[in-house]
Amino acid sequence: MLIQIRKRSDPRSSEITPKSAYLDYVSRRRFLGTAVAAGMIGSLPLPASAAAPKKAALQGVVKSRYKLDEPLTDTEAATGYNNFYEFGTGKTDPATYSKDFKPKPWTVAIAGEAAKTATVDFDDLIKPHQLEERVYRLRCVEAWSMIVPWVGVPLADVIKRFEPSSKAKYVAFETLNDPQRMPGQKSRVLDWPYVEGLRMDEAMHPLAILAVGMYGEEMPNQNGAPIRLVVPWKYGFKSIKSIVKIAFVEKEPPTSWNRSAPNEYGFYSNVNPTVDHPRWSQAKERRIGDSLFSAKRPTLMFNGYADEVAALYAGMEMKKNY
Ligand code: MTE
Repeated sequence: MLIQIRKRSDPRSSEITPKSAYLDYVSRRRFLGTAVAAGMIGSLPLPASAAAPKKAALQGVVKSRYKLDEPLTDTEAATGYNNFYEFGTGKTDPATYSKDFKPKPWTVAIAGEAAKTATVDFDDLIKPHQLEERVYRLRCVEAWSMIVPWVGVPLADVIKRFEPSSKAKYVAFETLNDPQRMPGQKSRVLDWPYVEGLRMDEAMHPLAILAVGMYGEEMPNQNGAPIRLVVPWKYGFKSIKSIVKIAFVEKEPPTSWNRSAPNEYGFYSNVNPTVDHPRWSQAKERRIGDSLFSAKRPTLMFNGYADEVAALYAGMEMKKNY
């Protein structure tokens, strides 16, 4: 996510050099890890993310059919290099500044065009469903990707419980808005709260999940505790974190990045190697953890999930509906 117009007072976004910054970080971690293991520099402090609060293991998680034939991204990379502007715009800011964030107790408001609307406690929202592990590729619009074993429940199953009406054409999501708990919200870098949306049929697609954990543990704060969306065929920014509201609406809802830079980020934001971002190509991506010297990988249509989701967009002009 690049911010085009920056006020003097806004923090600098490290995303302007996303790949090199990240690769430096990974190399540094790798070096430190190896060196510490070898007893060479045992007293060197690791980056802040290494000291992130430990999360509880999730019980009763079943494996699902959603697996990938590729190695998982290191936990440290997936929890140490994040986009979560509520905790700062730098890649290590979320791990650093979310340390004291207490994600429980937590409620989610279910609102709008549905037979049942309510403010639901996190446990009541999730407990009726079977937790599944889903290994998905998350492809960021910044042209890097990760392979993460998410733990969550199908979004469709949660939606059905609230019986949306025929007027519910879209689902709108909202992140917590509390600058005391999310210090990045003291900056006007985005219009808070962070908001996202899906068309109803996208939200009901079996690939879309509400994730409550990763790597078998509760969701780390920096990855969107306690509950976030994961929509694997779309750019990462559609996967909104720390959700407090889910509303069924008739009209296409606003989305944070589209509001911030409409010529760069559309409502759909499907991973599409043939539609470039106005300022860089989307044809290839760097897999987090790959060596600096290895070639970038080709980006796959719909992030590799075309067989499952292409039908949602049949007849739609993808270049226009980016
Ligand atoms: N959700 C909120 N509330 N705020 C954010 O800044 N960043 C998005 C998305 N969800 C973001 C968010 C972006 S740009 C990406 S790439 C993914 O979260 C990153 O998810 P990860 O940190 O778990 O890899």
